[in-house]
Amino acid sequence: MNVRDSEAVAAALVGAGHTAAVDEAGADLVIVNTCSVRAKAEEKALGKLGLLCASKRERPRRIIGVMGCMAQRMGEKVFEKVPTLDFSVGCRAARLIPGVVADIAAGGCGRRWVAEDIGCHDVPHGHLNAGLSAFVTVLLGCNRRCSYCIVPDARGPEYSRPAKEIVDEIACLASRGVREITLLGQSVLNYGRQREPVWDAPACAGAAFAEPFPRLLEAVAQVPGIRRIRFTSGHPAGCTEELARAFRDIPQVCPHLHLPVQSGSDRILKAMRRGYTAEQYLEAVERLRAHVPEIALTTDIIVGYPGETEEDFEATRALMRTARFDNSFIFKFSPRPGTPAAQLPDDVSPEEKDRRNKALLAEQDEIGVANNAAWVGRTVEVLAEGPSLRNPSRWSGRCGQNKVVIFDPVPGLTRGDLVKVEISRANPQTLFGNLVA
Ligand code: 5AD
Ligand code: SF4
Repeated sequence: MNVRDSEAVAAALVGAGHTAAVDEAGADLVIVNTCSVRAKAEEKALGKLGLLCASKRERPRRIIGVMGCMAQRMGEKVFEKVPTLDFSVGCRAARLIPGVVADIAAGGCGRRWVAEDIGCHDVPHGHLNAGLSAFVTVLLGCNRRCSYCIVPDARGPEYSRPAKEIVDEIACLASRGVREITLLGQSVLNYGRQREPVWDAPACAGAAFAEPFPRLLEAVAQVPGIRRIRFTSGHPAGCTEELARAFRDIPQVCPHLHLPVQSGSDRILKAMRRGYTAEQYLEAVERLRAHVPEIALTTDIIVGYPGETEEDFEATRALMRTARFDNSFIFKFSPRPGTPAAQLPDDVSPEEKDRRNKALLAEQDEIGVANNAAWVGRTVEVLAEGPSLRNPSRWSGRCGQNKVVIFDPVPGLTRGDLVKVEISRANPQTLFGNLVA
């Protein structure tokens, strides 16, 4: 989401007459986009801002700004931590950035916090140089209010963009050569469930779906030139029969879903207000796999949530073994100001969080190795991206399951081609294989 927002702000600045710098050292304007989801992310951003502001001693005209969730959350306080910062604009006012930069460049007052909340739906959506793949935001904000999460405070309530606006943006990207679209939303499967009517686009010919998100997938699939559609992040409540059918029946929809589980313990899931039990989560997984057996699933897990016992932790480990994720991102609980979980004693020690974190990473490694090994001998479809960074005589791309695949090119192969590769070897991160005629 932040990668996407950074690009949209950069595109807005280019639209206002700026030129993209080749690298950070050469930039007269640097804006750090920030995340508040864990304390560590904020510490890193503040450290980076400190270094950038120190560089102003040699380059007094350089402008340094901060945007994103930390800017939104800290307000003016960010200037106490980084006194020589030029500006801070929260994620819900990102549209104002080009104007703020123009003011400062014209000698206007620096050190400004733009507190105006101009509405989370009024954000930039431009794209810079379109490559093969692009992110498109479809759902802004979040209404779920999981007990540990700061996102709803920072990004505000959920807002589904009109389907027509999304489809038009994607058609424009496709005409610029984009072949793969990733639809973004904190809880993307909620698309269109809060706001009626989002469906102001004409219904697709022969529409096969009634729910708003599958319908959106169907509409995006009809955009000429779009060969692949991905989306993130999922929630079990959105893993309906229709979504499973969309995975199976819309050829462009890639067989991969990032479906954060957070914990395998019902007691902890309830405390987190996730809205499902471990069993309901696994039922969602089964529903998807029943329609698309080869679907890849990835997840997020938090270890050391307040009150998490050894038994709760073991329940998470057991769920991992049942779900057999292709990848898991494991996070240590970090109390975030203003969230309900921050009121509870952060009672799992740092050492214990570390032990649980490492144990789940090891568990995931083992599952990942076995999952990847199972692809040897099978054929996958790969979007050819070009020479591999490690060994430029070979090419790389990703298969529908979002795994990196390395293969030997043939004359005439072009970036953006969809090719079939038979897998001959696998390591935990990568698949290797040969093109199939
Ligand atoms: N502490 C640790 N991890 C968190 N996440 C969100 N909030 C917190 C927190 N307070 C994790 C969740 C989410 C991912 C993006 O970050 O696992 O899915
Ligand atoms: Fe945070 Fe939960 Fe919303 Fe995800 S679904 S952004 S974890 S509140």
